[in-house]
Amino acid sequence: MKKKSNFSGQIGFVLAAAGSAVGVGNLWRFPYLVAKDGGGLFLIIYIVLVLTFGFTLLTTDIAIGRKTGQSAIAAYETMRPGWKKLGILTFCVPMLIMTYYAVIGGWILKYFTVYLTGDFAAAAKDDYFTDFITDPSSVWFGLIFMLLTGFIVYNGVEGGIERCSKFVMPILLVLVIGIAIFSLTLRSGDESGAVRTGLDGLKVYLMPDMSGLTLSRFLQITLDAMSQLFFSLSVSMGIMITYGSYVKKEVDLNKSVAQIEIVDTGVAILAGMMIIPAIFVFSGIDGMSAGPSLMFVALPKTFYTMGKAGYVIGLVFFLLTAFAALTSCISVLEAITANCMEVFHTERKKTTGVLTIIYLIATAVIALGYSVFYVEVKLPNGSTGQLLDIMDYISNSFLMPLISVFSTILVGWIVGSKWIAEEMEHPNGKFSRKHLYNIMIKYVAPVIMVILFLQSTGLLDRLLAVVA
Ligand code: PFF
Repeated sequence: MKKKSNFSGQIGFVLAAAGSAVGVGNLWRFPYLVAKDGGGLFLIIYIVLVLTFGFTLLTTDIAIGRKTGQSAIAAYETMRPGWKKLGILTFCVPMLIMTYYAVIGGWILKYFTVYLTGDFAAAAKDDYFTDFITDPSSVWFGLIFMLLTGFIVYNGVEGGIERCSKFVMPILLVLVIGIAIFSLTLRSGDESGAVRTGLDGLKVYLMPDMSGLTLSRFLQITLDAMSQLFFSLSVSMGIMITYGSYVKKEVDLNKSVAQIEIVDTGVAILAGMMIIPAIFVFSGIDGMSAGPSLMFVALPKTFYTMGKAGYVIGLVFFLLTAFAALTSCISVLEAITANCMEVFHTERKKTTGVLTIIYLIATAVIALGYSVFYVEVKLPNGSTGQLLDIMDYISNSFLMPLISVFSTILVGWIVGSKWIAEEMEHPNGKFSRKHLYNIMIKYVAPVIMVILFLQSTGLLDRLLAVVA
């Protein structure tokens, strides 16, 4: 049962999949995790995980998609009828992510317009971000972003998604490389006469910081890297299954998987190279501990301190981040659309139309979660959150690790890795990392995924406390 819609070929597929993978996770979450988790140490761990776990999960999703020609719900049912429930669980992830991804896209759009109108001094003020999101009128930016997403998905796989990714991704790559190089040339002195340069910042970024490293800190860093990997590669949420289902049989999946890994990780590393030296030069080591507020608070401050150049860089930075968020957002809506089309036997335009209306409402509700619908909920991992954090917690910290536990068990132990290997070996008989895949999917991944699930739900700490 093969769909009519397809990507035109390998390049179209790789750019669309990389477009899904490269998003705010690369440009914002990755740099702040590197800064928090010991610089080069985090980088090394992350790269090892990409080549092992990332490769395994990405291969699994894409091969399932192409082999069945279906999206998550129908695909898992095709693999083993009793496993349709896993498909439904997987479908829940994009369904939840979609409620808030356009909200974040809207925030980025807002910052882009602030730079466009030349008001970047305002964006550097301490409370600017909080004032913005707690103002109900901020909803409009999220709604515009959602409409744009709906419009692209409405235009189909080749005419909408692929066309948008082919336009956006090359520009994004050039901009990221350009700003990263510029960041390395920065220098600034403080009152004491000490001069900090971009290259000093690069050292802070790349040198592994082993000071005070204990086993438990090492584990914490590894788990941080692991959950970043999931989010960054868009795996275990059905998106890559849907995109895989649009890949023609003559495309070499081996090469495609490797290229997606390289682009996603490359952009994340370059994003760190553009952000960390800049923050280091203008805000010092302290600026680097900004955490999640890095993108909307610390960076605008840094851009402001840079003067005129900061204005241009800020404008370009928020433009490229908006692009990255858009190609990710369309992949989330596409995964929902494709599942609905298969389950309800509806056609694309009608399905996208209805889903866009539903998600315009959802986007408004979640965006208003900082004003009209403000709540404070204590999450099982100890943090307190608003509506957006609740959705993010359920989808990323709870469902995603849980789904990968089950999908690795299904593939590794029930269906068998041969089923995946056959698809990877098509059309030219080569699955270069086959042995690694077999070991990972059967033994390593299920165990580590259980640990990740326990950690991200806060259960691991409780268990350790009982044992200790
Ligand atoms: N992979 C995207 C990023 O790194 O920002 C994020 C993402 C896209 C998450 C699509 C979830 C998703 F469904």
